Amino acid sequence: MKGIILAGGTGTRLLPLTAITSKQLLPVYDRPMIFYPLNTLISAGIKDILIIVAPNHSGNYLNLLGSMFRKFGVNISFIVQKEPRGLAEAYLLAEDFLDDQPSTLVLGDNVFEDDFTEAIQSFQGGGRVFAKEVPDPERFGVVEFDADQKVLSIEEKPVAPKSHFAIPGIYIFDAEAVAVAKKLAPSERGELEITDLQRHYLKQGNLDVRMVSGAWFDTGTHEALFEAGAYAKEKKLGERFHPMINEAIAIFNQEFKKSVSLK
Ligand code: TTP
Repeated sequence: MKGIILAGGTGTRLLPLTAITSKQLLPVYDRPMIFYPLNTLISAGIKDILIIVAPNHSGNYLNLLGSMFRKFGVNISFIVQKEPRGLAEAYLLAEDFLDDQPSTLVLGDNVFEDDFTEAIQSFQGGGRVFAKEVPDPERFGVVEFDADQKVLSIEEKPVAPKSHFAIPGIYIFDAEAVAVAKKLAPSERGELEITDLQRHYLKQGNLDVRMVSGAWFDTGTHEALFEAGAYAKEKKLGERFHPMINEAIAIFNQEFKKSVSLK
């Protein structure tokens, strides 16, 4: 299993914060947001992670994460997405990195309280996505279930949502995702939609949907970013991270302090 984090995009809803840095490097209380998806992947034992970044902020990612996890046996590589052409483009950009392996893709601006280790490690094939009941489903991909929890439909940002179940930004797919993504056409808004990829697996009878427990924040707005930070502080989410991540951050901080005091 390989890991992908989508940390590109323009983050226009968070301007002016995102004029000077990438959305996924903004703080969620005591750490840059990107550590949340990293924690999800590293906790599940994933050792190969590709971070997809926008061109203008790539240097910041290298400075922070370029060598942070090397001593822990976790390889982090980067690829630039020149323009935000949609979430499903991740599978095209990641083709060589994936090397015909299954992957877990996490959106760099999604903060989860839940732990996905079991869902990732028990994955056998096909596709596995998640659902969470929300008051404003029209902002997300929406999944509709029948009385037996069987999936009936998946729609991207529907004007009239058929349920209150949003699909959060974590998707597990087998190696076929690359071939499926290659056949997708851009939607009306000009993006390769992850919901179209999910629908392909649904049609094949190969899509499994599980519920997310605990809090979930899509930190794309000032309010949601603030709420995620407040929640992380209150619930001490950082302390619950995989110990390797907190150790890596502590070593990074120490080395950074040393380098500053030497000057
Ligand atoms: P969005 O929040 O939909 O887009 P955005 O981050 O550009 O923000 P805004 O709408 O305010 O301009 O993206 C969701 C996540 O996916 C976020 O982490 C950015 C990432 N993303 C990419 O990396 N590449 C893409 O092509 C798109 C559309 C999003």
